[in-house]
Amino acid sequence: MSYLKSSILSKWVMAVTGIVLVGFLIGHTVGNMQLFIGSDTFNTYAAFLQGLGELLWVVRITLIVCVLLHIFTSIKLKLDNYAARPIKYQYKSYLKAKLTSRNMIWTGIMILAFVVYHLLHFTVGTAHPDYYNHYESVVNEKSAVAIDTQGEQIPPTFKTITQDGKTYVIQEEVKSAKTRHNTYKMVVTSFRNPIISICYIIGVILLAFHLTHAIQSAFQTLGLNHPRYFGYITAGSNLLSILIAVCLISIPVSILTGIVGGAI
Ligand code: HEM
Repeated sequence: MSYLKSSILSKWVMAVTGIVLVGFLIGHTVGNMQLFIGSDTFNTYAAFLQGLGELLWVVRITLIVCVLLHIFTSIKLKLDNYAARPIKYQYKSYLKAKLTSRNMIWTGIMILAFVVYHLLHFTVGTAHPDYYNHYESVVNEKSAVAIDTQGEQIPPTFKTITQDGKTYVIQEEVKSAKTRHNTYKMVVTSFRNPIISICYIIGVILLAFHLTHAIQSAFQTLGLNHPRYFGYITAGSNLLSILIAVCLISIPVSILTGIVGGAI
């Protein structure tokens, strides 16, 4: 009985921490889609996230706690499973268990390796410092191409306006000027490297496989699995996983094909 109780609790921990992580992933995917709007929008968004200060750390610590709980509980469930069945089945029946559900632990381990690499690449900046170290000038809250005068970087004070079919270059009063991380350039220069792009595409495909089973499994654990809705839950879970994967994969693909980042 206590085994059953602890197993139910473990499954709840898996479901709740998984939902938090999927929630982050949805937000992260939507945020990343701003790359298609342009450099200024994307860098403003990245600077906004960096500027969250303590709140950013609250989110980070919540994510780390969820990842750790998710991993330790999955190992516990696996070990409990073996303990409850000390003699291995002579024949494993794979009739019902799909490929994705049988390989959750393996896709999970590979996703963890991908996330560690991703953090070293885009957050810490140590995986590829050449791609990470790009900064830009921001004048009056808008990113600006710095003019290089004999090696000296000065923020440009000009903007263009079009009136009656003619374009004028006018001088604008500089109200503020600062330097910020050029996250857009970091992503574009990184994904122009086909090996990096392929690593990301593989990582995201593995993530999608993990999610298809994970989301429907969470619904089941939380008791939202009425047979009448089972078809919808499976379809919705597959659709969300594919949507996240297509959005994320579209980034390296558009950069590799030159659709995004051409001017850089
Ligand atoms: C093509 C796919 C992806 C792109 C282009 C991308 C882009 C980025 C960028 C640019 C950052 C740094 C933001 C900044 O510090 O300004 C970042 C951070 C991060 N990404 Fe991704 N990401 C992708 C996929 C993923 C996936 C699949 C996951 C999770 C499974 C993920 C999890 C994270 C996490 C946890 C952070 C750190 C957030 C923080 O605390 O600062 N990313 N990503």
